[in-house]
Amino acid sequence: MNPELHTLPTGRHHVACIMDGNGRWAETRDLPRTAGHTAGEENLASIVRAAAQRDIGWLTVFGFSTENWVRPRAEVRHILGLHERLFGRVEELNDNNIRIRWIGRPFDSPESRTPRFVQRSIRKAIADTAQNTGMVLTVAFDYGSRFEMMNAARNARADGSDLNMNDITKRLHDADLPPVDVMIRTSGEIRVSNFLLWQAAGAAIHFTDTAWPDLSASELDTALSLVEAS
Ligand code: FPP
Repeated sequence: MNPELHTLPTGRHHVACIMDGNGRWAETRDLPRTAGHTAGEENLASIVRAAAQRDIGWLTVFGFSTENWVRPRAEVRHILGLHERLFGRVEELNDNNIRIRWIGRPFDSPESRTPRFVQRSIRKAIADTAQNTGMVLTVAFDYGSRFEMMNAARNARADGSDLNMNDITKRLHDADLPPVDVMIRTSGEIRVSNFLLWQAAGAAIHFTDTAWPDLSASELDTALSLVEAS
């Protein structure tokens, strides 16, 4: 799905974000949950710009999980629209020399649930930003880490592998994705959920009470200081 990277980014770190708390952010303002997701997408765009100006080569964000499909239909529809909007920000991504990529259940797998219109926006954004050389922004959509690992093991077994570490790593959704250096989880939840469990085995974790729509560039710096100090 993702094209081979022609140039590695120069930024050294891989930051992963679990963007939690959009719903609570909206509820405390007497707004519908969907308004929280809209604010979350807008803040993601500004965090992406901030990350591209720092020593970050890879930013991976949890946009929609394999478990999120059980949410109310109107909320799911709204979040799908926000992904279409995010993947439509090609001009902004190109202005910042950012490549966009995607991880999730492969579109041709029987388990995939990504609707066609989202598939189209993902494919187009990947193709239209592939020539950039800067930060790689990877969006996890219809993504679950346990599915990813099981799928990699399944494919390795089908290929007759004896299942060593490298045989699994190279069959993950994006074999180019490096180990995560720091994981950020917003909104006071002290857990990692089903996100990048293989890739984040050695990651530092920055848990914060800040809701995702309020996460600032200076808090991104606080998280980065966890890896820059080590
Ligand atoms: C968590 O908030 C966020 C999500 C379920 C994913 C959706 C994320 C966004 C819309 C922001 C980024 C946008 C894109 C397009 C990648 P929650 O609903 O779980 O909040 P709560 O825990 O307060 O209810």
